[in-house]
Amino acid sequence: MSDVLKVDDLRSGYGQLPVLDGVSLTVGQGEIVSVLGANGAGKTTLLLTISGHLPAFGGDVHFDGKSFDRVPAHEAAARGLVMVPEGGRLFPFMTVLENLELGAYHPAARARMAQSLDEVLSLFPILAERRGQLAGRLSGGERQMCAVARAMMSLPKLLMLDEPSLGLAPIMVDKVFDMVRSLVAQKGLSVLLVEQNVGNALHLSQRAYVLEHGHIVKSGPSADLLNDPDVQRSYMGL
Ligand SMILES: Nc1ncnc2c1ncn2[C@@H]1O[C@H](COP(=O)(O)OP(=O)(O)OP(=O)(O)O)[C@@H](O)[C@H]1O
Ligand SMILES: [Mg+2]
Repeated sequence: MSDVLKVDDLRSGYGQLPVLDGVSLTVGQGEIVSVLGANGAGKTTLLLTISGHLPAFGGDVHFDGKSFDRVPAHEAAARGLVMVPEGGRLFPFMTVLENLELGAYHPAARARMAQSLDEVLSLFPILAERRGQLAGRLSGGERQMCAVARAMMSLPKLLMLDEPSLGLAPIMVDKVFDMVRSLVAQKGLSVLLVEQNVGNALHLSQRAYVLEHGHIVKSGPSADLLNDPDVQRSYMGL
């Protein structure tokens, strides 16, 4: 399996404050990989740095065979690396449809916008029903679907999801995870998933990394981590 994303010794932080202390990881083509870790471990910082929203202090990001050194976030998205931030960050006073259209802002995505829209509305029937409604009036689960659908409008190769199940009822969590699974199956996407919902994340992903205080302390096949006593004790409350 070839790697779509390869992160090497990545370091970053805020101002002078170091947060990521040399993180290395890979995501293969068509693979779902999770990053687990406690609050404040640096998970969001990791996704922000990979996606170019936050400058790296050092290290390398390789994506789709190319170096991603100092590539700004809009350019990263145009090349197929797209982050869905925690909570989705929709524009609440714009409609569902307008939010989706905003996902297709770069020229290649814009050229295929009508087709992409048909595709995401058939993948997410609830959004088709709610297309004229203000995004701020969606339920938490619908908002998360809309955020993922908006990311799909930009024709991603790799989706990075920051806690897509946060604040959702268990039935909606299952729906969001099912949706990620079917997107990967149908679209050949790769996914880097950050989750606090560790049991679900490990069932969805093939491999996982555990981040503590800005570095990776453990990694391996998700099935192994599910049975790892440290992971069970620290992250699954078992
Ligand atoms: N904008 C910021 N400015 C300064 N420090 C920040 C900023 N954002 C995060 N931090 C700090 O960086 C560290 C890592 O935060 P980060 O948001 O990456 O953690 P996380 O693993 O995503 O946590 P959570 O599970 O709570 O979302 C924390 O100590 C946090 O206080
Ligand atoms: Mg976070």
